[in-house]
Amino acid sequence: MSTHTKLQAAPPTAATPAKFTIEPVRDAEQLRQYVDQHWRTGHVLARDERMFDFQYRTKWVDKRLFPLGVSVLGAYEGSELVGFLGAIIAPYPRPQSYWLALWHVLPTLKGGGHGGKLLNEMQRLAVGTDGRGKGWIGTFGAGPEALPVYLKRGYACRAVRRWVYTNPIPDPTPPPQSLHAGEVRPPEEWLAYRYDAHPIFTYERRRAGIFRTEQNAWGIVTHVLRLDDQTPGGWRDDVNEVFLRDSARALAAGCNYLMDAWAIDPPGTGWTLAPDDLPSVFHPPTARGNLIYTVGRPFVCGDVQKGECDQDRPN
Ligand SMILES: CC(C)(COP(=O)(O)OP(=O)(O)OC[C@H]1O[C@@H](n2cnc3c(N)ncnc32)[C@H](O)[C@@H]1OP(=O)(O)O)[C@@H](O)C(=O)NCCC(=O)NCCS
Repeated sequence: MSTHTKLQAAPPTAATPAKFTIEPVRDAEQLRQYVDQHWRTGHVLARDERMFDFQYRTKWVDKRLFPLGVSVLGAYEGSELVGFLGAIIAPYPRPQSYWLALWHVLPTLKGGGHGGKLLNEMQRLAVGTDGRGKGWIGTFGAGPEALPVYLKRGYACRAVRRWVYTNPIPDPTPPPQSLHAGEVRPPEEWLAYRYDAHPIFTYERRRAGIFRTEQNAWGIVTHVLRLDDQTPGGWRDDVNEVFLRDSARALAAGCNYLMDAWAIDPPGTGWTLAPDDLPSVFHPPTARGNLIYTVGRPFVCGDVQKGECDQDRPN
């Protein structure tokens, strides 16, 4: 992978009136102010420096490409930050992988080419312009409207659905999983970072999976971040134990209970597709759909769960 070079924008047209450069962000504080001002006031990445660092300053960031150690590209018009594209750098599904997280351009510049150039440049850093580099680039959390943008650029896409656990019956057989031939599973070093060292959330790591149970305005919810198929004979016991423990708490408290997971294929027996009217309960509790997309280049992961990318973080 070559080191970063500044991209000069194409000559000004009606759609791209001003000159801009795409480069690694110059100033983390300026970026956090941008997020607060233009994405959402009080956004967690703006208000909590620990979350910002956790997301964008992982130890897998290559400082030759991102001198501040912050894996975000900015679009600049002079000294003004007018857009950005962030990536969480992780050691899976390839050892140097870019999980795209947050992409934004000033509303007045939308459709002017800044966003596309940010994506092209991030892609160049991750996998090379021809996509044949050793890295990986992709995301989990794309909406249907974004799919053409990725498809046109040679990404593979898959739909990921939301499942709810409803039927705690013993079953020692883990579900089959088909990973891409080039896909590395998250190594322990990543799991320790992502789940044990999280600055805000506390996760319950068990042999067969990773869980986070919270009580919120809707009720008690167990988010299943990962279910691993590496523990034949035991994985269901953990799921059942957590389910029975936390649903009993909900019963005692007289509130709703839900255990949910995101996965491409059914996670196993006992899981069913989430009904359409079930609210997404880690955001304000409204029904927001149970289908989101994952994309990747040169391949899409065979195993995508709720713990991937920035899907389970405070807002
Ligand atoms: C998404 C966003 C960053 C794109 O930036 P932009 O400068 O408008 O993008 P460009 O003009 O370079 O267009 C890039 C591509 O996105 C497509 N695109 C832009 N806005 C789109 C929209 N609202 N819906 C679908 N596609 C869109 C363009 O067609 C273009 O596709 P192409 O390169 O295949 O032709 C910008 O619209 C934005 O800030 N949106 C609000 C935040 C958001 O939704 N972020 C994405 C989820 S994190």
